[in-house]
Amino acid sequence: MSQQRSPSFLAAHVERLSRTHLRDLLKDRERGERLRHRVGPLLLDLSRQKLDHEALQALGEHAEASGWQQARDAMFAGEPINTSEHRAVLHTALRGGASRLPPLAPREARSEIERTLQRIDELVRAIERGDAASMGLPPKITDVVNIGIGGSDLGPRLAVRALAPFHVPELRSHFLTNVDGQAAYELMRQLDPRRTLVIVVSKTFTTQETLLNGNVLRDWIVRSYEGDARAASKHFLAVSANTAEAERWGVATSNIYPMWDFVGGRFSLWSAVGLSLALAIGMEHFRALLAGAAQIDDHFRSKPWQENLPVLLSLVEYWNRNALGRSSRAVVPYADLMGDLTSYLQQLEMESLGKQVTPQGEPVAQSTSPVVWGSVGTNAQHAYFQSLHQGTDTVPLEFIGVVRPAHPLRANHDALLSNLLAQAAALALGKTFDEALAESKGGDEQARRVLAAQRTFPGDRPSTVILLDSLTPESLGALIALYEHKVFMLGHLWSINAFDQWGVELGKSIARQILPALEGQTDDLSSFDTATRALLDEIAQRREG
Ligand code: F6P
Repeated sequence: MSQQRSPSFLAAHVERLSRTHLRDLLKDRERGERLRHRVGPLLLDLSRQKLDHEALQALGEHAEASGWQQARDAMFAGEPINTSEHRAVLHTALRGGASRLPPLAPREARSEIERTLQRIDELVRAIERGDAASMGLPPKITDVVNIGIGGSDLGPRLAVRALAPFHVPELRSHFLTNVDGQAAYELMRQLDPRRTLVIVVSKTFTTQETLLNGNVLRDWIVRSYEGDARAASKHFLAVSANTAEAERWGVATSNIYPMWDFVGGRFSLWSAVGLSLALAIGMEHFRALLAGAAQIDDHFRSKPWQENLPVLLSLVEYWNRNALGRSSRAVVPYADLMGDLTSYLQQLEMESLGKQVTPQGEPVAQSTSPVVWGSVGTNAQHAYFQSLHQGTDTVPLEFIGVVRPAHPLRANHDALLSNLLAQAAALALGKTFDEALAESKGGDEQARRVLAAQRTFPGDRPSTVILLDSLTPESLGALIALYEHKVFMLGHLWSINAFDQWGVELGKSIARQILPALEGQTDDLSSFDTATRALLDEIAQRREG
């Protein structure tokens, strides 16, 4: 696919801004007021993005002309906007009970969601009061293992870790995801099978990794009951849209919680996919997470683009990606508890927006998803920030901070926040050659100039700051919903279907063809390409050695 050009309606703005340094843009005080917005527990500061009022206005007008409000309402109303799979996209209905606006989702979907939430509520409360047996589960559960991958893992994993300060006592959470047997092996060494509850989460219930890990833990628990599969089955819950397959696998019907076609895996934290989270933090907190997300849903449904956080975030990304040609974005949470946010966003954004054709099968007009990457600060500063400050490529960043931590170590937290603020400032402002020269004291003029060149920071590197008042179920729900709606907006602006993921299928089907060769069920490698054949040969030889 050929290199995409910047959309023509932005060309004049790109040209004008190419002559302006961010340092100069930041002198405009009003800029902060226009680009800094708060909703509930979130503050979004876009004032260090390299665009001015005119450019933002042009972007906003483009969004208005695209009919984003109608597209948004179609999603909330359950129209089949996931056209390649003929599905509605109703993750917002999962938290619709906490919305203050009239519901748009079909009544039937809302009732199913409510019924399921009720079942989750009953289960969580029964386990909390030590009465798991009343739900057909083994008594005295101490550990919960969520088995799932992608959307069936990343959301609960992110939230369970982020909300550690809210965990109920005496119940530990674990996540088993990769097909690499090491993790399952370690877990089995660590846990007591008779006190472990396993939640197998798979929308399709056909995912190789999840089923393999499920089999491993099932065998382990069956062994602990001397082969009594019926007793072992009490340890398993399933969350799936494929109830028949979950039953066939051995989960009791009463232990299966539904997923629906109208919820995509990467948008499913709010459903029974969040069961491990609900068990970890209790039902009040799980409902607070839903309420936080619903607050952003209402905001997204009701505010004009100028004040609408997901819309603004999407316009800034559109600007960076399509006007300025930035091909990646770094997400750096300054909070260890949010250490899984970047991988969560990688799936949410890249699986949704990594598309090159429109729903009509035509090539897209612009570049789509940037690569999302990153890790927690300040650690990241001591790894790859050198390149972000002085490398040849400009990478827009997203800094995420928490104002009030969940711990009392004030000095640590002040240092953490000062670093976040300092990095955003340094990236934007930089340090000129003359400033660096003035600081270079030793040596002759030539030596001073050589050193100053190396100590110059170009600056002009954009970033967004998102601050959470504190990291709570409510603010985390709001933050995730903010990103979900940003993804929706970008899908709309790029004219792509953000809700399918055909791009993951090819590798899966080739893996299915390769597996028999590795299992020794066939010696005929002739259908594989030469590189694959050679590597299979190497593996076979080394296995024998
Ligand atoms: O392979 C990609 C994917 O289909 C994701 O979209 C999904 O979140 C993940 O696999 C897991 O799928 P499932 O929940 O059906 O096991």
